[in-house]
Amino acid sequence: MKMKSIIFGITGQDGSHLADLLLNKGYDVIGVARRSSVDNTQRIKHILNHSRFQLVEGDITDSGSVANVLNNYEHVDEVYNLAAQSHVGTSFSQPLLTWDITGKGCLNILQHIKDYMPSTRFYQASSSEMFGACYDRDREGNKYQDENTKFLPQSPYAIAKCAAHHSVRLYREAYDLHASCGILFNHEGPRRGDNFVTKKVINWLADFVHWMCDNNVTNTSYLESDENYIMYNDVTFPKLMLGNLDSYRDWGYAGDYVEAMWLMLQQDDPDDYVICTEKTHSIRDLLDASFGYFNITNWNKYVGQDERYYRPAEVNYLKGKAEKARVKLGWTPKHDFNSLVKLMIEEKLNEKLSHNDRHIKCV
Ligand code: NAP
Ligand code: GDD
Repeated sequence: MKMKSIIFGITGQDGSHLADLLLNKGYDVIGVARRSSVDNTQRIKHILNHSRFQLVEGDITDSGSVANVLNNYEHVDEVYNLAAQSHVGTSFSQPLLTWDITGKGCLNILQHIKDYMPSTRFYQASSSEMFGACYDRDREGNKYQDENTKFLPQSPYAIAKCAAHHSVRLYREAYDLHASCGILFNHEGPRRGDNFVTKKVINWLADFVHWMCDNNVTNTSYLESDENYIMYNDVTFPKLMLGNLDSYRDWGYAGDYVEAMWLMLQQDDPDDYVICTEKTHSIRDLLDASFGYFNITNWNKYVGQDERYYRPAEVNYLKGKAEKARVKLGWTPKHDFNSLVKLMIEEKLNEKLSHNDRHIKCV
């Protein structure tokens, strides 16, 4: 029998990858997108005309809207809640909005499932950000987080995610729902939003190498820099401005991680799972790897730091342990950090090539 799924957060990075996966598996997919004054379907353009895909309008902060969407379909097998105000930095400047979307939004969906569709399976996008300042240590003294690590959230975003996470656990236990949370560590890819650090660095680098080509800069040693700009003769290019370079993240590829979401809903019993690569890298490592792709070793000359990109509280260290997912779901990531950085750079360069018909032979 054909499976039917509803994805909240369809226009986001993960929503688009999950839709690809489910369509490939033969599902009918209903994607829920909120009203926007500009086109917000960039990441799902390729499936908009798919015969088994339907895009509907809805906002998870509005319980009536959630009910309208969910009431419209019979025999929904799976509901995925990927919708969130997902930027940690923004959650400090918009904490109440973040709460409404990222915390309460999940409850709006859960409540409807409990009341009207209790046999539908539910996935909630929980986050490694919930661990915040907490970690455990293995026998060798190495820090890690897994399903048993305590939560000590360090942002309004993480607090909202913790509330949603505990709501799912409670509804699962109290009402016997098949509701699972994926505690996903950072995952990226070419569809990543522009203001997350991986994509920001790679977008900047692609522009920078094109600027060098356009100005016939054949050797970076000819470049000068001041606090804000990179200079070549009388032309300038703005430096890459970042915040904290000393935090560590466990970065994986989004395309691998949506497979784990689906696997969680195929289990007989609902549960929570950490999904990660089990490796961690600092922002400095990210700069080494991405500038290194272009054989630029001294990135310090091109990178500045700006107060605006620091957060009032930081999560310093994330490195997961995915043993439970490996054993119970049979899930392992296919991409590591270096292949992720390469993938993101090459996709970005291809995109620029097809837009501008330019080439970057000089680097
Ligand atoms: P994303 O690219 O920011 O996508 C978020 C999605 O939520 C977008 O489709 C957005 O719509 C939608 N949305 C926001 N507010 C909404 C509302 N009020 N009603 C309906 N939809 C709304 O995030 P992502 O990277 O795909 O992440 C997916 C989920 O996983 C999020 O819940 C995120 O917090 C969580 N997560 C992500 C990571 C990661 O590293 N990517 C790790 C752990 C957990 P617009 O396009 O209109 O903005
Ligand atoms: N965004 C951003 N921009 N981050 C910067 C910058 C900058 O200019 N400079 C340094 N950073 C640092 C941040 O302070 C943070 O320590 C790290 O880079 C990663 O930041 P993000 O890429 O914004 O991701 P995040 O770890 O805060 O949050 C992402 O991962 C979470 C899972 O751990 C998001 O996808 C969340 O939605 C997700 O839950």
